Amino acid sequence: MATVEVRDLRKRYQDFLALDGVSLRAETGQLVTLLGPSGCGKSTTLRCLAGFLEPNGGDILVEGESILSTPANRRGFGVVFQNYALFPHMTVAENIGYGLKLQKLPKGEIETRVYDVMKLVRLDGLGDRLPREISGGQQQRVALARALVLKPRLLLLDEPLANLDARLRDEVRWLIRDLQQQSGITAFYVTHDQSEAMAMSDMVAVMKAGRVAQFATPREIYQKPVERYVADFTGEANFLSCDEVAVTGEGRYSIAVAGTTLDLGGVAGITSDTPVELLLRPEALRLTSVDEATFRGTVTKSAFLGAALHCEITLPGGGVLKLSAEPNANVRTGDEVGIAIDHSHAWLMPEVAP
Ligand SMILES: Nc1ncnc2c1ncn2[C@@H]1O[C@H](COP(=O)(O)OP(=O)(O)O)[C@@H](O)[C@H]1O
Ligand SMILES: [Mg+2]
Repeated sequence: MATVEVRDLRKRYQDFLALDGVSLRAETGQLVTLLGPSGCGKSTTLRCLAGFLEPNGGDILVEGESILSTPANRRGFGVVFQNYALFPHMTVAENIGYGLKLQKLPKGEIETRVYDVMKLVRLDGLGDRLPREISGGQQQRVALARALVLKPRLLLLDEPLANLDARLRDEVRWLIRDLQQQSGITAFYVTHDQSEAMAMSDMVAVMKAGRVAQFATPREIYQKPVERYVADFTGEANFLSCDEVAVTGEGRYSIAVAGTTLDLGGVAGITSDTPVELLLRPEALRLTSVDEATFRGTVTKSAFLGAALHCEITLPGGGVLKLSAEPNANVRTGDEVGIAIDHSHAWLMPEVAP
């Protein structure tokens, strides 16, 4: 159990700056996700936490104390990586108990703890199998059990679901979250999958080229992104450019967009000179009659997806809005339609965070 603080972490590989001042924190019992595209520095951050890499600057504090001079094997962290690298010649139970054996615990205690953790990750009865005799999902649960059996004070997971197919990914994802919440263990979780990040996390750090673009709750990064990059990476998004911006209050604005005026909330500190964009998530939009509409446009694409009808509507100024309509909506390509917007779901942001 631990509070963890990463402070202004820097890491250089030869002349490439992989981490350019990463700061984030995890309160005891939280699961904090590092989310971002390949190459943005997620694994580097996690490896610094684990102690496999030495940062060039910044600090990592656990319960307020720096751990940078503590070697990896003394940090008391559990690590689960994408390539779970089980020992192929050892049984499942031996793989899980290996770390306890290194600690020279009595055989009886090792057996009890291995048995308990196998039950926890639902591997009961598979203790005598070899890794090649179990499925990929089960192998990944062995890797998880191997970390949990050591009762780590912090759990580090780097894309632990990447090698699993979609159905198993879902199953192991919920298992990880359940175990993490039940045990109250603090965890850092790396993924490039936004839905995984949204579903599992207490806090999300959206990373961009070696920095944290935004560190907030899943709801906040989705509904109140600080810039386009974050909005784009955290779900389906429509962006419209605005003609005029007026500040009407603290984080409140009035904008001229696509021939109409909107009052809405947005990132604090925008001025009339800031290059801005209007964010409209698809669920903020609905088709309506032309007279009730905020925007009018032409349907340029419609596709039946079963649960919904996906539509793209092109506005007179050239902006395009994507939305999900009711599956039986009577909409065809070429139709003139109206779009109503839910103002509470509209959000103004700078093109790039200052
Ligand atoms: N050992 C290394 N030597 C040189 N460059 C590296 C090394 N490891 C990672 N990098 C580079 O650092 C950047 C961040 O890598 P990484 O942390 O693995 O990203 P992510 O996990 O987000 O995909 C990438 O551009 C990667 O190419
Ligand atoms: Mg990585």
